[in-house]
Parts: sequence; C-alpha cells; structure tokens
Amino acid sequence: MPWPSGSPVAEWWDEAVFYEVYVRSFADASGDGVGDLPGIRAHLPYIAELGVDALWLTPFYPSPGADHGYDVADYCDVDPAFGTLDDFDGLVADAHELGLRVIVDVVPNHTSIEHPWFREHRERYVWAEGRNGGPPNNWLAVFGGPAWTHDPASGEWYLHLFAPEQPDLDWHQADVQHEFESILRFWIERGVDGFRIDVAHGLFKDPELRDEDEPVPGSEPGSFDRRRAIDQPQLHPLYRHWRTLAGDRVLVGEVFLSDPVRVADYVRPDELQLAFNFTLLWEPWDAAALRDAIDATLGALAAVGATPTWVLENHDVPRLVTRYGSASRARAAALLLLALPGTAFLYAGQELGLEEVALPDEARQDPVFFRTGGARAGRDGCRIPIPWSPDEPGFGFTDAMPWLPVPADWGSLSVATQRDDPASMLSLYRDALRLRPRGGGLTWHESPPGTLVFERGGTVCAVNVDASALAVPQGELLLASDSANRGELPSGTAAWVRA
Ligand code: GLC
Repeated sequence: MPWPSGSPVAEWWDEAVFYEVYVRSFADASGDGVGDLPGIRAHLPYIAELGVDALWLTPFYPSPGADHGYDVADYCDVDPAFGTLDDFDGLVADAHELGLRVIVDVVPNHTSIEHPWFREHRERYVWAEGRNGGPPNNWLAVFGGPAWTHDPASGEWYLHLFAPEQPDLDWHQADVQHEFESILRFWIERGVDGFRIDVAHGLFKDPELRDEDEPVPGSEPGSFDRRRAIDQPQLHPLYRHWRTLAGDRVLVGEVFLSDPVRVADYVRPDELQLAFNFTLLWEPWDAAALRDAIDATLGALAAVGATPTWVLENHDVPRLVTRYGSASRARAAALLLLALPGTAFLYAGQELGLEEVALPDEARQDPVFFRTGGARAGRDGCRIPIPWSPDEPGFGFTDAMPWLPVPADWGSLSVATQRDDPASMLSLYRDALRLRPRGGGLTWHESPPGTLVFERGGTVCAVNVDASALAVPQGELLLASDSANRGELPSGTAAWVRA
C-alpha cells in the first residue's frame, strides 16, 4: 500500500488514536445527572492510562439541547450545565500535562434556532419561497420529514437538514464565513489541538436550491443520495482556507458520504488532514465485506496521499457488541481496528464493551425517535452514561439519577469491575493500545474464506470472522482477543503475532 509511502510518520495525528467523549454521558461532577467538563477533567488519568493520544469532546456550548448540543446557541462559551470556560481551560491544561491532545467539535452547518443570529441576522440562513403551497423543494431532513419549516410571520420557509430547531446557515454569505473564522480562532487561542467538523460535507447548498433526483423506486424513504443539499464545490476552497487558519492543528471532517472516493476529495494535501471513514462501521461482521471496505478506503485515500481513518463506534450508531451480536466479535474487531494503518477513533464505553440499550419510550430523548414518530429508535441507546462503579443507580457516573437510565446489570461492565481483570474488554483495549503496530502500509496474506490476515509494521493481524477455525500464524503471540486460544482461532476471535 502506498500510504505512508515509506516516509516516516509526519504528524502526531497520522497514527493517533482519538477517544470520543460524549460530554453528557461521561462523568457528572456537579451532581445533576448530566456529565460535565469537571467530570471529564477528573477522569483524564483514566483516559491517559488507556493509552489513547487525543480526546474529542462533543459540543459543550450553550444550547437548548434540541439535539443534545449539536444545536449551538453561542459558539464561544460553555453551557452552564457543563461548566465554565475556566473549567475548559483547566481540562485542556491537565490533558496536555498528561500528554493528551484535545479537539473540539465545531458545528458550522446549522445553529440552534435560539442562536441570536436567527433573530438578528435572518439573512445568514437559507430562506426560500414555498412551491404550490408546500416547501420550496423536495429535500428531506436527516431526522425525518421535509427539510423545510414554514415561518408564518414572513411567509417564507427556512432550511434545516436536521431538526427544525437547527436552521441551516447560508454559507454563501461572507458574514457567516467571517464569523466562523473568529470562532475557530477563539478556540485555537484557548489551546485546542484541532477540530472535529460536524456535517463537514453539508455547509454549502446548491445556490438554486434545485430538487434532488427522486429516489430509486423501492429504496427506503429519504434514502436518496443527496447531491444538491451537500457536497458542493465551494467547500473545498473553504477548507483550504481553514487549513491555513488551523496551522499545525488537525481538522477532522465528518464527511458523511458513502463513497470513499468522494470523501478523498476533502483530504487532498491542502484541505482537511483527516475525514471520518465510516465504511467499516456500515459493514456487517463479514470477512469479504470488511476486506472490501478496507481496500476501498486505502485505495481512495492513497490516491490523494491522505491518512486513512477508522471508526467502529460513535454517538450516532448502535454499540458494536450489539451490532456484531457478541462481545467476542467486538473483541476481535478491536484487534482489527487497532492494527489498521492510520488513525483510529474510539467512542467512550467501547473499551468497556457497553451494549446498545433498548430504552422504554418514556426514557427516550433523541429527536430522531420523535421526528420519525418512533419509526427509528434513535441514538439514545449508545449514549447511556459510563458505568464507573457497580453502585446503582448512578454507577459512579453521578450521585443523582443519570439523565438516561443505566441498566441494572451494568455493574459487571463498570470500570471498577474490569480494571484489574486481565481478561476484561478494558484490559484488551489497554493491551492493544500499548502493543498496536505503527508505521507502514498493509499487506494481505492469503487466508481461508471467512478470515482476514494481514501484516503491518512487523505484526500479523489474524481475524477469524466466521470460519470454523484459523491457525494462529507463526511467530511470537503478542495479543489474542481470547487468551484461551493459542494455537487455533475459533470463529469471532483474533490475534496479533510478531512476524
Ligand atoms: C452529526 C452528529 C450528530 C448530530 C448531527 C447534527 O452527524 O454526529 O450527532 O445530530 O451531526 O448536528
């Protein structure tokens, strides 16, 4: 594989493991049942000991919470529920002290409907006249329903690719561009090491707001490949500009496009350094599908010389143990993920093997559930607070009632229970982060159907996805997802061997 073309790793993010902290769900220091910055700060040693390189904090800005912080009412402050700017500064200082970088989430596609701009600078948003008494075009919101809401006062419609409480900004306006430059500078001056750019593919819209092509008959409602509401050519000069603003800080784009070749355009040498690659995350536990996703990604990114990235969990998708149907497979997947070339993203709780939780309807909070009339379960099930100890009902996350209920049997998954157990998921992640191969591209070894075997940086990663058995490759066994299996890897297990 051409990446990293034989050259030494150039930048800290090229081989980094990022740890995503969903701020509401990590640790509550204030005692209100909701996670906060002081809570995260108190648990930084845990994150450092895990062995990751950087922390990604989800939005903690003042927000009415229609999308749990992804509806921002003030980009340059901290929501009182999460702490203060001083708390933020303290968190960054402590993280740096521990050798952890910190990136923050910037949400430029939309604001909260309660952002003062929506009242005072209407022209910064996308407004249009209706068509035949209905919305201006056929665009659909990601969270369900039309992407337009009628404003009775003006008679016009405003655009929202997500919830109506998240009006889309009009990035064709110079003012909007200038405002975000100031916002990026504000956080750079506070010492952040980079930004995760929310909905990075969405900022500009087709200036004529033309209809999207109709979906292929028989496909899921709302599943049409958006072409005019997203992925517009103006994004590339914008990101080139942001790259110069960012200096040596990293920009990670949530470029939510299904084709890695289209994603690669965003990580050309003078644009974003990294973009999430969701291809693995969309695949089932199937060797051929996983291998195709890996090859498609490496091929597309090598063509532009960009660093590959990998992710199996985040705050928007069901937990891995549940998706793959077993903790054993999730353990094997951890060894696959952490052996791949490039940058990996972990989601807090992944290292504990937390499961997706099916919440009763009355406990649900996610707008996706409500906006689809319950047709989609929503994302609450992967946002359950972290169990730090087995003590119910707060599980060491809070002294109060946690904002989403933690299942009564999660004591066994808690940090306190797993910490000193060498066979736990937490120990596996710690070991894998310590032993993970670095440097070099990936070379596939021939292996039976249902298995994946590749070498990288002197380590062979062997994954028995669903074959009856796979022999552990020759060499010194570095790590096995199931330590009982030293000669043969049964289905749903993996091992690293020094070649
Ligand atoms: C991104 C976030 C998601 C949020 C959406 C709208 O996809 O990851 O949580 O709901 O953007 O901001």
